Amino acid sequence: MSQPEDERREALLTVTDVHKTFGSTEVLRGVDLTVHRGDVVAVIGASGSGKTTLLRCLNGLETPDRGVVEMDGGPRVDFATRPSRKVVHALRDRSAMVFQQHNLFPHRTVIQNVLEGPLVVQKRPVAEATAEAEALLARVGLADKRDAYPVQLSGGQQQRVGIVRALALHPDLLLFDEPTSALDPELVGEVLSLILELAREGWTMVIVTHELQFAREVANTVVFVDQGRVLESGPPSQVLRDPVEERTRQFVHRLLHPF
Ligand SMILES: Nc1ncnc2c1ncn2[C@@H]1O[C@H](COP(=O)(O)OP(=O)(O)OP(=O)(O)O)[C@@H](O)[C@H]1O
Ligand SMILES: [Mg+2]
Repeated sequence: MSQPEDERREALLTVTDVHKTFGSTEVLRGVDLTVHRGDVVAVIGASGSGKTTLLRCLNGLETPDRGVVEMDGGPRVDFATRPSRKVVHALRDRSAMVFQQHNLFPHRTVIQNVLEGPLVVQKRPVAEATAEAEALLARVGLADKRDAYPVQLSGGQQQRVGIVRALALHPDLLLFDEPTSALDPELVGEVLSLILELAREGWTMVIVTHELQFAREVANTVVFVDQGRVLESGPPSQVLRDPVEERTRQFVHRLLHPF
């Protein structure tokens, strides 16, 4: 996509110079990132490069030391000014995160897990939220698991419930942190297909993934994170096939040729 056209598209999320230190380790060292409405951004990078920390900073689960995270329509959170809890919660409310492990409550049924956010956090009417949760479960082929407990589901089914739980919050932005890396290989496809469907429906998402073939198919932008910075970003055809940076080239090569 050409630069002028890119600039005309509406930015949903703008991240500017985000820094995060744990102890004496500076994990994020000035991250800049723009996500436009309808973008699917695949974030790739070596283990320990800061991908999970970055995602957590985007929805206020982690507090950057400094830098600005801004959502179109608000809030704009400048972490250098020690933002209030209220403004950080406002940031969190704009996105929903799907974790590596599904993180479902083990003692609650599927429908109870999905309804936790809409009812307890968002205080939406029970009948309306329940009808919507049931429709979402049906949509991902899990209507018959409505009253099952997480332990009674396969890993792929659990992760699909995790995605439904995120969708039920009506977020503007979906954040995925290696959504298939904890799954048995034969279960990966069902979760990736669902994410691909959501992408085609126009959901805006940021996906941390090591599945390069999937990234190539689903993403319009690939971001390579290296040592706490965005070293390179662009369309998959460029970053994955013909990267500018030598480190990107080495990383992609290693993933494609592990031994
Ligand atoms: N809560 C924490 N306390 C201390 N150090 C942390 C914390 N969270 C992350 N780190 C450190 O920050 C660095 C980046 O971690 P992060 O989880 O963001 O990497 P990652 O790119 O997601 O790696 P992976 O691909 O293995 O998931 C690592 O060195 C990690 O040990
Ligand atoms: Mg991680």
